Amino acid sequence: MRVLLAGGAGYIGTHTAIALLEAGHEPVLLDDLSNTSDVVTDRIAEITGTRVPLITGDAADDEVVESAFDAHGPFDAIIHFAALKAVGESVAKPLEYYANNLDTTYALLRVGLARGIRSFVFSSTGTVYSDPADLPFTEEATRNLVELSNPYSKSKLMNEVALTDIQAVNPEVNVTLLRYFNPVGAHASGLVGEDPKGIPNNLMPFVARVAVGALPEIGIFGDDYDTPDGTGLRDYIHVVDLAEGHVAALEKAQPGLASYNLGTGNPVSVRGLIESFERAVGHELPKSVKPRRAGDLAATYCSPEKAERELGWKATRTIDDMTASVWNWQQKNPSGYAG
Ligand code: UD1
Repeated sequence: MRVLLAGGAGYIGTHTAIALLEAGHEPVLLDDLSNTSDVVTDRIAEITGTRVPLITGDAADDEVVESAFDAHGPFDAIIHFAALKAVGESVAKPLEYYANNLDTTYALLRVGLARGIRSFVFSSTGTVYSDPADLPFTEEATRNLVELSNPYSKSKLMNEVALTDIQAVNPEVNVTLLRYFNPVGAHASGLVGEDPKGIPNNLMPFVARVAVGALPEIGIFGDDYDTPDGTGLRDYIHVVDLAEGHVAALEKAQPGLASYNLGTGNPVSVRGLIESFERAVGHELPKSVKPRRAGDLAATYCSPEKAERELGWKATRTIDDMTASVWNWQQKNPSGYAG
């Protein structure tokens, strides 16, 4: 399959491009490089022996998307990863988040449907679920737009609603909504991985920066939650498992609308993740307990059974695989793609 990856030079897109190449598909990247580097195409070539085309431009601009189809089409499918994704920033900049995260979808669909794509795979999020009583979240769990705490998550759910209506009048097309839980980890080569700009907001990249000595200590945001060790529980998923989930979704795509949780279903606590990272590094890391972070839930994790049943996909990598791969990437690239 020939596949256009909007936001394909980012963290999840890069790993998905590698998984697609390994499965015999032909990915083409479209990315504005606002949160990544064109170095990723060198790294993908080093890993796979294939240089993937990269179009540098805004996926919200119809002309840019047209130019991607003109230069590298026709495409069988589009995978849409292009989005602003910082939850805290989305509260401060709602206009930017709604505009970018919805306009990209509209432009990709306007052009893609006119040019005959058969499948559209959308990067959604496990934060679309709104009722903790539904744990572990299944695809039918409560989703209530007004109860979501931030514009980032709302923009993803608004996309899901729009995509559902658009698919309904294009019944020959497949639309797959992939709800990611907490993607972490890096490719086994250590050549591609997560490269957040500035001080990371998320736990795994923060711990990695502490491990290389770039930050002084890990803050554990609350140890008085109603969880086994008092710290927050999350469903961390290795980015290579996640990438393989996209390949399975594309290969199994049937006309119609489908949604899948992509997670492991095995929640890991903040302390559990840090201990795993300490095993990878071989020594303890500096850490202290801090107040809870506003907006955090005690626990979020999914049931990934529908994806296993319908896509034949299951996450296989453990938390120790995830932390070891991040440590490998971080040591080889202490300043990310910059050096
Ligand atoms: C967040 C986003 C989610 C996004 C995900 C990316 C929300 C509601 N969700 O999830 O949309 O897909 O990032 O992986 O914000 N923690 C610490 N110390 C830190 C950082 C985090 O103790 O320095 C704790 C948090 O309190 C939480 C856990 O670690 O319990 C995971 O946090 P984080 O990695 O930021 O992910 P989420 O908040 O779950």
